[in-house]
Amino acid sequence: MASKEENKTLSQVYQEEFQPDYYINRYYSGIDAGNEFCLKNLHQFFEQECGENKNRKKILEVGSGPVPIYVMSASRWSNSIVCSDFLQQNREKLTQWLSAGREADEIWSSYALYVAQLESESADKETAFLVLDRVRHSVRCVIPCDVLQSDPLLSNTESPFDIIISVFCLECAVSFPKEYPSTVSNVVRLLNPSGHLIMMGGLEGEHYFIRDRKIPRIKLTREMINLALQNAGCEIVTWHELPRNLRPPELPIDYTAMFFCVAKKIC
Ligand SMILES: C[S@@+](CC[C@H](N)C(=O)[O-])C[C@H]1O[C@@H](n2cnc3c(N)ncnc32)[C@H](O)[C@@H]1O
Repeated sequence: MASKEENKTLSQVYQEEFQPDYYINRYYSGIDAGNEFCLKNLHQFFEQECGENKNRKKILEVGSGPVPIYVMSASRWSNSIVCSDFLQQNREKLTQWLSAGREADEIWSSYALYVAQLESESADKETAFLVLDRVRHSVRCVIPCDVLQSDPLLSNTESPFDIIISVFCLECAVSFPKEYPSTVSNVVRLLNPSGHLIMMGGLEGEHYFIRDRKIPRIKLTREMINLALQNAGCEIVTWHELPRNLRPPELPIDYTAMFFCVAKKIC
């Protein structure tokens, strides 16, 4: 007979087990090659895509969790960023940081310094604080989302967006591989025609840990991502991978590589 733990739906597991403070301390205790891979690719995307067009793009992050780093580059180009997450505890944690002052910035300062240095060779600790201030000014709100729903923003009228960012979210939100394509389509529905979906995550992983609780995820492959995007009317325009062994060995993750994927909505 299945144990009570095994009978929980994935949504219940997230609601009951995901602790934002633990998550930040365990997975974001200082910048590593995996974070640099994401931040550098995001920086390059925004520089190429936005050029001189400051403040024009409407940007959404789905499944932000309690983490503000993946909108740092976007905040240079847009003052209309919406962050979102399934869990109230994550939305509260992120909102708390957005409304806090510099005393709350230490935890994210190594990430902000890295982004500041991508933007300017002369960047220093002070410039890094300015990146964090910029994020606070650019994120307009943190709203509920459920990527399993055909309308993931749950009737919120913010959509459509020019760019959507999603990091370690969709492959964690679905319980079975067969649900992945419709979840990608749900998110793509929030994009403008010709808009871009940027996804980052782990390939071939089956779980990660919150304390000693194993959180399941689907074993994602490049082919699954490609097919799901095609099915959603998108084509991949950028693909990069980073082998897992370049990340710290003590991280409790089992994927074989990280991926960075940009897809353009073509129909
Ligand atoms: C591994 S965390 C990633 C958080 C953050 N993006 C990062 O990369 O550190 C997975 C995130 O997916 C969110 N999530 C889980 N189910 C979801 C759903 N159905 N819709 C939207 N987000 C979901 C969780 O609340 C959590 O914030």
